[in-house]
Amino acid sequence: MSEYLVWSEEYATGVEMIDGDHQTLFMMVNTLHDALVRDGATDQLPHLFERLSDYVNGHFGREEALMRQCGYPLLDEHSEKHHQLEKTLRKMVVEFSTDPTAFPADDLMDFLKNWLTSHVLKSDMHYVPFVNGQKALRT
Ligand SMILES: [Fe+2]
Repeated sequence: MSEYLVWSEEYATGVEMIDGDHQTLFMMVNTLHDALVRDGATDQLPHLFERLSDYVNGHFGREEALMRQCGYPLLDEHSEKHHQLEKTLRKMVVEFSTDPTAFPADDLMDFLKNWLTSHVLKSDMHYVPFVNGQKALRT
């Protein structure tokens, strides 16, 4: 397994369910990176793309339910970011299946890495005080 996307404490929200999901996502991105960039194992890729898309959808659903539960005021903006990523992933899956040889693998991996890390550090960290019921401290 490559260490393309390395988990560290800076990504920890302290919300157990979310951190578990994020760690799984990091792992899945590493698996995709191995297949797409390192091994060129194209026969596995449609399956890996699908698995990642499914997991991302499930994770976003869990996260949005949590934000709703704690009355997070920026839920709509946050959900919109999720929808954008889901859209991009769907587009990539289509692009890949249309012409795997022309697929911009490095660009996709860079995009996923940057999106995930900055999303966790900025957007996800922002709802943590609300989950913990400390919204008065941070707003
Ligand atoms: Fe999120």
